[in-house]
Amino acid sequence: MQGTREHSDEFVGFKDGWRGVIERDYVELDWRAVRGLNRLGGTVLGTSRTNPFVSGLDDRTVYTALKESGIDALIAIGGEGTLSVAAKLQSGGVDVIGVPKTIDNDLSATDYSFGFDTAVEVATEAIDRIQTSGEAHRRCMVVEVMGRNAGWIALHAGIASSAHAILIPEVKSSISQICHWVESTRERGRTPLIVVAEGFALDVMDAPHHRHGLDTFGRPRLGGIGDILAPLIESETGIESRCTTLGYIQRGAVPTAFDRVLATRMGMAAVRAVHESRCGTMVAARGTELVSVPLKDAVSELKTVPVNRWFEAATLFG
Ligand code: F6P
Repeated sequence: MQGTREHSDEFVGFKDGWRGVIERDYVELDWRAVRGLNRLGGTVLGTSRTNPFVSGLDDRTVYTALKESGIDALIAIGGEGTLSVAAKLQSGGVDVIGVPKTIDNDLSATDYSFGFDTAVEVATEAIDRIQTSGEAHRRCMVVEVMGRNAGWIALHAGIASSAHAILIPEVKSSISQICHWVESTRERGRTPLIVVAEGFALDVMDAPHHRHGLDTFGRPRLGGIGDILAPLIESETGIESRCTTLGYIQRGAVPTAFDRVLATRMGMAAVRAVHESRCGTMVAARGTELVSVPLKDAVSELKTVPVNRWFEAATLFG
């Protein structure tokens, strides 16, 4: 809207991420087409895990596809996978601005990415409901949330729902430690609630549990650690235990007001960055301000949960 009003820009949206770019599959995005979108979850454009470089294409192919589609600048919206491709394209001469959108909140250059707050809200609400059932049955409830390398959703939703243990990819724990938290919670007359990120591994595991192969970025498709933990907890403690994996429920919800504001401001900042010739950068939130950071720095390392943040939460475990 701002680009159209202030600069008479024309926008198109590529369908299904990089697939649409490569196959020149796009739709016009005038102000009518984007009206009301900030109230919707997901994306009207679709998405895919297509990685042009894994498909054997190079940056020239993508560059040619963009030029043939009449594109002057590309605004790439996504997480680490999408923005890593964007960073490679920029070095190949394509004018790209990155916008961080991931529920994992794991891009090191930005304090927040939109999607995260909504996912935490959804997870917290679901965990509250699960805990209600846990309390009624006096069961230990294990809730698995997303978070491949970074345990931000688990940490925030876990603190918000007063979990008795929060298990994240950044910190390994032993089953005896977890059972100790479960038993001491029960001894206080409470119903144990464990929030675990899909990327968590027990101290005896070499890598996070995965059973669905790899995605197109070559990353394991995680999930299932909660189903491993619940029976282990039950057999070690004798406390009936159940696991719920929240999975895709965490994505696609109606965005929170925080995410709507962040997404709107980031969109406007991306348009400004294009017009101020700041291509090759990503819009990043630093406190309440938005800044531009080099795209390659934005994807060079993941923002994992600092161990002291986990210890801070752990003082309340058990
Ligand atoms: O990258 C976001 C994320 O939500 C991860 O936390 C999770 O591992 C992954 O997506 C699952 O993605 P897919 O849609 O490929 O199963």
